[in-house]
Amino acid sequence: MKIKDKNFVPFISAEEINDRVAKLAKQINKDYKGKTPLFIAILNGSFIFASDLLKEINLDCEISFIKLSSYTEMASTGNVKELIGINENIFNRDVVIIEDIVDTGNTMKGVMGEFKERGAKTIEIVSLLVKPEALVNAIDIKYVGFEIPDKFVVGYGLDYDGLGRNKKAIYQIKS
Ligand code: IMP
Repeated sequence: MKIKDKNFVPFISAEEINDRVAKLAKQINKDYKGKTPLFIAILNGSFIFASDLLKEINLDCEISFIKLSSYTEMASTGNVKELIGINENIFNRDVVIIEDIVDTGNTMKGVMGEFKERGAKTIEIVSLLVKPEALVNAIDIKYVGFEIPDKFVVGYGLDYDGLGRNKKAIYQIKS
């Protein structure tokens, strides 16, 4: 598959993703039984993952979306931008952050810091993908879909320069 100047090869199939997402939801349902968590999905990348995951969540829960980006094309700038759209009261809430991919961890570090400041009772992260080799921040990610090599991926919400988010599967850059 070609997107702009880059070639991508199939990496994680739609079936594998669906399977893993269902398992993550099952674990969250178990861990948050009796609680009313506030899920906060990070746009744009997590919109498909958040949607599929939340359909499997059987808890009373609230769902909100925030937007920020530290990514320009294929290189993380390391600058976490401001959070946009966080209107919910975070104080004393069990917050579950929904992220598509944790790369350097800069984004998650910034977001968690902000939620801590606002007095969240607990904060956990569910990330579909994690690139352990790229992590530069010590971040505790409780729910991980797949650990993947430090190679660029697209599809299932993830983009390359704006394209590829609508693919059902995940593709890895061909090197
Ligand atoms: P971090 O702050 O370096 O952890 O980067 C996290 C954000 O960078 C994610 O939410 C994605 O939007 C983007 N990102 C990181 N790696 C990739 C990738 O391989 N493909 C597409 N986007 C990525």
